[in-house]
Amino acid sequence: MKIDVITIFPQYLAPLRLSLVGKAIENQKLSLDVHDLRDHTTDLHRTVDDTPYGGGPGMVMMPEPWGATLDELLNNDSILIIPTPSGVKFDQEMAEQLASKPHLVFACGRYEGIDARVAQYYEKKVTVLEVSIGDYVLAGGEVAAIVMIEAIARLIPGVLGNWDSAVNDSFAETEHGRLLEGPVYTKPAVWRGLGVPEVLLSGNHAEIAKWQIAQAKQRTAIRRPDLTGE
Ligand code: ADE
Repeated sequence: MKIDVITIFPQYLAPLRLSLVGKAIENQKLSLDVHDLRDHTTDLHRTVDDTPYGGGPGMVMMPEPWGATLDELLNNDSILIIPTPSGVKFDQEMAEQLASKPHLVFACGRYEGIDARVAQYYEKKVTVLEVSIGDYVLAGGEVAAIVMIEAIARLIPGVLGNWDSAVNDSFAETEHGRLLEGPVYTKPAVWRGLGVPEVLLSGNHAEIAKWQIAQAKQRTAIRRPDLTGE
């Protein structure tokens, strides 16, 4: 998979060179290029924003630098993702779907967002997704892009050392629906007087699996009843 990120703060994306996603890049499961939007401005001040038509607070990102950058990066196979609090909500299912795509382009806006004609124009050429990572407002799309890229990258085959850990993830599709993962334990068997549930020490894999599903269902019902459809 190839991912391009467009931003006015290229350094913001530096954490993606670390850990799991960093390794995926090193192992060539993923290629990541970060582009400075200001490289496609034409004025001395490298301006990317202007006041909103219709008035109101804040500034809006001008379409020209976005058009110049996106024209260079997009091809027929690209998906353009625009992180915005007014987008459709990102979830594990969307991450799973995006993990099999050849080319994702993240357009990270700042200020009050990107002139709406940018999405309108590129919708005629590629799939455009305006996506929110949750019901809160960040200072820009960069952190949202990092969140989405990490969630997507770990689902690319060969990126996770242990594929089982994706299958058992919270929100992974199972025969019981999408559930939160239950509690997990490691050594020592007793810590500060607290023991590990007996069944986990039994070596009985069928019983352990049954217990884990029951724990997942119970936790989901309490913390996320919306996931169980109740
Ligand atoms: N930009 C600002 N807030 C955001 C959010 N919640 N999701 C995606 N992009 C954003």
